[in-house]
Amino acid sequence: MLSIKEVSKHFGGLIALKNVSFNIEENRIHGIIGPNGSGKTTIFNCISGLLPVTSGNIFLDDLNITEKPAYEISKLGIRRTFQGADLVPSMTVVENVMSGIYNPQKSDIIQTFFRKPFKKSDSEKELYNKAVETLKIFNINDSAERWGSELVWAERQLVQIARAVISMPKVLLLDEPAAGLGNNETKQIGTIIKKIRDIGITPVVVSHDMKMLMDTADYITVLNFGEKIFEGSPEQAMKDSRVLEAYLGKE
Ligand SMILES: Nc1ncnc2c1ncn2[C@@H]1O[C@H](COP(=O)(O)OP(=O)(O)OP(=O)(O)O)[C@@H](O)[C@H]1O
Ligand SMILES: [Mg+2]
Repeated sequence: MLSIKEVSKHFGGLIALKNVSFNIEENRIHGIIGPNGSGKTTIFNCISGLLPVTSGNIFLDDLNITEKPAYEISKLGIRRTFQGADLVPSMTVVENVMSGIYNPQKSDIIQTFFRKPFKKSDSEKELYNKAVETLKIFNINDSAERWGSELVWAERQLVQIARAVISMPKVLLLDEPAAGLGNNETKQIGTIIKKIRDIGITPVVVSHDMKMLMDTADYITVLNFGEKIFEGSPEQAMKDSRVLEAYLGKE
């Protein structure tokens, strides 16, 4: 579905990614792990069009999306969350999720001007309902009318994911969705990721938490200093000497 082909990314003299290739398959939870600074966020930035690659290509099905701008890639069905990102505190939870729809159906300017204040237009109502439905997937629809600022960090992470899920992308890139969360909350994120896969979105999860991906991912790619050092099942990764060395250091 999504193919990364020999992608390199240089920042001046720093090589953040070196000839990295891997495939994201439909309906498979793909984990990307690696130590700090190994290039995990950079590969997401390249896929989502936020950073130009130095060399290599990225294909969505048969379409070469390497040179496409971020908004177009998003419209083609690749969405992402950001590491450590937050909600808009002055918007309600449901409004935060609504803001994830890239192109609210063509809004009728005249209607917007002349309708009574506080009366929602039909397309707004539709969008609102869709956002509540999305919150239901995450079991946080009870919090729909709370302010973004009222939620604790774990809840805010869920809403952030809901904001990306509402547009039903083909691929959802999640950058450290469990960062800063405790064990139980991390498990909950794992369950959510499986749910996302079950509704037909292919999740790609960046994490440096090996345990979390062991329990969640079907397949993983391991990066170390910008290079792919392993790909395969989580079980195989645990036995791979290069992975263990990158993670645990030489004994
Ligand atoms: N915009 C940038 N300009 C310059 N250097 C960058 C930029 N973005 C990333 N880097 C560098 O590229 C390397 C890879 O960074 P990246 O953020 O992709 O790592 P990461 O695997 O996501 O790490 P972490 O686990 O800390 O999130 C690092 O050395 C980083 O300092
Ligand atoms: Mg990162």
